[in-house]
Amino acid sequence: MKKIAVFASGTGSNFEAICNRLSLENWDAEIALVVSDKPNAKVLEKAEKAGVPTYAFQPKSFAGKEEFETAILEQLKLRQVEWIILAGYMRLIGSTLLRAYPQRIVNIHPSLLPAFPGKDAIGQALTQGVKVTGITVHYVDEGMDTGPIIAQRALPIQEGETREQLENKMHKLEHELYPEVIKKLLQQN
Ligand code: GRF
Repeated sequence: MKKIAVFASGTGSNFEAICNRLSLENWDAEIALVVSDKPNAKVLEKAEKAGVPTYAFQPKSFAGKEEFETAILEQLKLRQVEWIILAGYMRLIGSTLLRAYPQRIVNIHPSLLPAFPGKDAIGQALTQGVKVTGITVHYVDEGMDTGPIIAQRALPIQEGETREQLENKMHKLEHELYPEVIKKLLQQN
């Protein structure tokens, strides 16, 4: 059975979507750990409800990234985690985790990369007035949303569409695509 860890800083709707698909379709996999850098994040409540172990940490209580990633790595090893799935984890992954999980860390980003990397990709797309945006699943490297692209889905922005409407559509698309991609990666590797 493949063991994965989901890293998240926020709501955790993608965590929930992955968790649901995994159990609905009986994947030969389990979410062995949810990692969060925000001890009050909603995702932690969702994980606890789903019976998934959690590791929450306060970055400020460590000397730096290397120190907190070493602590995370210890937890991942303890649970024999093979894949790291980023789902709204608002930090750049550092060399400690990148070295330990080469080509085994993936992320979902709410734009058609390489357009609009970084924070508030949806806001960036709306400000620029693009007519089509979308979502991207990619491998994680040392850059900000720069790793090799695995899958994308486009989404037209309708005339007069509000930010909330667009966000809802993007999330719905993410909840379909991300579990699908993860399932394939786990089957192929
Ligand atoms: C998603 O929109 C994802 O694309 C981005 O962060 C958001 C996380 O949302 N990386 P949630 O916490 O899974 O609801």
